[in-house]
Amino acid sequence: MNFSWLAPLSRPLVVAHRGSSGKAPENTLAAFRLARDEGADAIELDVHLSGDGDAVVIHDGNLARTTGGKGPVRNHTLEQLKRLNAASGWEGKYTFEPIPALDEVLREFGQVLGINIEIKGEYRTEAQRELVRRCVECVRRHKLSGSVMISSFRVRALKEVGFLDPGIIRGLLYDPLYRPVRMPSAFAKSLGIQYLIMNRKRLLKRTVSAVHRAGIMAGEYAVNSTFQAGRSLRYGTDAVYTDFPSEIIRFFDRIK
Ligand code: G3P
Ligand code: MG
Repeated sequence: MNFSWLAPLSRPLVVAHRGSSGKAPENTLAAFRLARDEGADAIELDVHLSGDGDAVVIHDGNLARTTGGKGPVRNHTLEQLKRLNAASGWEGKYTFEPIPALDEVLREFGQVLGINIEIKGEYRTEAQRELVRRCVECVRRHKLSGSVMISSFRVRALKEVGFLDPGIIRGLLYDPLYRPVRMPSAFAKSLGIQYLIMNRKRLLKRTVSAVHRAGIMAGEYAVNSTFQAGRSLRYGTDAVYTDFPSEIIRFFDRIK
């Protein structure tokens, strides 16, 4: 596969945020397939730990919003989770989409798309560690250490990834409202991390410049309009996370 997080194209990498989640149920195989068909460079997905210790692809720790299920993901086994419908709210367009296991996504897309696994999950240290271990083990089993990025808001999780497999690209999700640091680029650099990824609403041009001066790359989410994508180009962002990959790719192609 001709993909690298670190050697981007002449325009920003287009990363399908939770898959093509503007047109398909987020974090499902349907959303990832659509992203592939639309020509996205990579997909982003979120992971939690199931009750029986599997890495499962879902954004929230609670099942209600995306599946209509009840309670935390961690209180359910993979088999129980598989019975829930992650296309809840998409009636008329999608009938049933299961919650994928990370393993299934890596198996189907690992050779065709870049993949960004965002570690969500528990704050409880042991559960967080177990989730990180599961993800790294899955990436290694599929021999994808060279093309997967693991990202997280949680510094400890990222340190653990670096410890378990220093070959995996790491992205620090940074939000100044959540954890203000004076020099986010220097902070990421000090952790040995290759990407700093920020909410576009809080990303400044000078932050992108500082990130580049530190020798790392800049990602921003969610870039969902051509106006926003135009700003990404002016800022020199390396990767844009979008719910609408085809629209953003078309825009980049048009102004090439
Ligand atoms: O990785 C960027 C983005 O996914 C972080 O926010 O809430 O969409 O997971 P969220
Ligand atoms: Mg995410």
